[in-house]
Amino acid sequence: MTPEHLPPVIAIDGPTASGKGTVAAGVAAVLGFHYLDSGALYRVVGLAALRAGVRLDDGAALAGLARRIAPAFVEGKIVQDGEDITLPIRAEDASRAASQCAVFPAVRQALLERQRAFRQPPGLVADGRDMGSVVFPDALLKVYLTAGVGERAQRRHKQLIEKGIPATIDGLLRDLKERDARDSGRADAPLAVAPGALVLDTTGMSIIDAIGAVVAAFRQRS
Ligand code: CDP
Repeated sequence: MTPEHLPPVIAIDGPTASGKGTVAAGVAAVLGFHYLDSGALYRVVGLAALRAGVRLDDGAALAGLARRIAPAFVEGKIVQDGEDITLPIRAEDASRAASQCAVFPAVRQALLERQRAFRQPPGLVADGRDMGSVVFPDALLKVYLTAGVGERAQRRHKQLIEKGIPATIDGLLRDLKERDARDSGRADAPLAVAPGALVLDTTGMSIIDAIGAVVAAFRQRS
């Protein structure tokens, strides 16, 4: 339950390329809520590690990076140290690095308060892996968004090609499966269905219908 004095949160968790980001941003637009793309923070850490040559198995060094980064979210863009890194963080090497950084509890801890600071009136829609379980356990609505792995690879492929980022379906399928296994198998804040979450399988479902289902569930609870 959400304490009375805190703005309501809709937590949307799920595996990679399940449509969380698009659905979460759409729900936020419909309700006039703020939006947190928590994966972007892990991606910023991953990209920073690749660029600085920090080893992806050095949890302490990665946590240091996570404490230092200060990305600004401006009009749909992500800016770090004056550089627009909206596209570089979406490349597959940064995606893989993000998931490797995310296994370390010290990295997750370093990003925790930064994520909670997005909770501002009139409300927040947050998407990620542990929004309902760890970051906002009192979320008014928890959603677990998923879709078949083949459809997820197709969706991600379309998204990347539209942004001019090269990708192949085979490579993406391999990467999705690898990241799903790492995100679900890690000891700290693994991807899982939070108790009480609404499970929404969007295989074959349109974005508009998925947004509508989440908004309807929220209105029913609030
Ligand atoms: O867009 P996609 O679902 O592929 O990934 P993302 O949400 O941008 O997250 C990138 C990576 O960050 C994931 O593979 C996770 O390992 C990690 N992550 C996490 O551990 N916890 C979150 N709340 C969000 C992302």
